[in-house]
Amino acid sequence: MKGILICGGTGSRLRPLTEITNKSLLPVYDKPLIQYPLQTLIDAGIRNIAVITGPEHIDQITSFLGSGERFGVTFAYKVQDKPAGIAQALGLAEEFVDGEDVCAILGDNIFFDDVSPIIKAFKGGGHVFLKEVTDPERFGVAEMDGDRVVSIEEKPTNPKSNLAATGCYVYDNHCFEIIKKMKPSARGELEITDVSRGYLENGNLKATILQKDWIDAGTFESLFEAARLVRGTYIPSPRGEG
Ligand code: G1P
Repeated sequence: MKGILICGGTGSRLRPLTEITNKSLLPVYDKPLIQYPLQTLIDAGIRNIAVITGPEHIDQITSFLGSGERFGVTFAYKVQDKPAGIAQALGLAEEFVDGEDVCAILGDNIFFDDVSPIIKAFKGGGHVFLKEVTDPERFGVAEMDGDRVVSIEEKPTNPKSNLAATGCYVYDNHCFEIIKKMKPSARGELEITDVSRGYLENGNLKATILQKDWIDAGTFESLFEAARLVRGTYIPSPRGEG
C-alpha cells in the first residue's frame, strides 16, 4: 500500500499564520502538524509516501521532509498547480501508486485512535473513518444504518447525522477510475467525498467510527485544541504570568 499526504489549501482561516507557511508546517506543541498524519501512515507500515502541495509551498515542504530518511520512509513530491480539490490531488498520484492500494491522509488531520490495524487489514473497496462531532456541516458527513454507510455528503446544510468523515481514506486502485469520471462540485473542486460515494454506490464502502479525539486543525481553535491534546494535560498558567 502506498501513502499520500495531501497538504493543499490556502489555510485562509489561519491567516496570518499561513501567510507564508503551509498549514501543515504550523506547530502543534512540539512538532509541525504534518508529523502527526505522517506518523499515522508510518504506524500502518506504509513506507512509500507521495506528498502533494501547491507550488507556493512545495519548497518549504520538501526542505522540511527531505528524502524521508529521517523518518524511515521514502518521499515522492507532486505539485498541485491549482487548489482543485483533494480528489484532484489524489488523482495526481496515480502513477506513483502504480496499481496498489492507497491510504490518503490530509496534512492537517490528527488521529488519536490507532487506526493502523484497520489500514493493515484492508482488503479492497473503500474505507473511511468517522467521528461524532457537534458541527457536522463543516465536514463530509456520513449516515449509517447499523454497520452500513447509507449516504455521504460534502458539507451538507442539513446534515443527516453528526458523523464527520475524517481526512483518512483507504481505497483500492479503482479510486483513480472514479476520479477520472468525476465533475467539480459547486465550489469548483473534485471532492474526496465523491470518491467515497463512488464506492458507496458500488456497495464497497466500509466505515469505522473513531472513539478517541480527532482534530482537523484548520482553525485557530482546533489548532490550539490539537496542541492541548498532544501535550496531554492542560495546566493553565498561574495568574499574573505569561
Ligand atoms: C476536507 C473534506 C471533508 C472532510 C475534511 C476532514 O474538508 O472535503 O470531507 O470532512 O477535509 O478534515 P476541508 O478541510 O478541505 O474543507
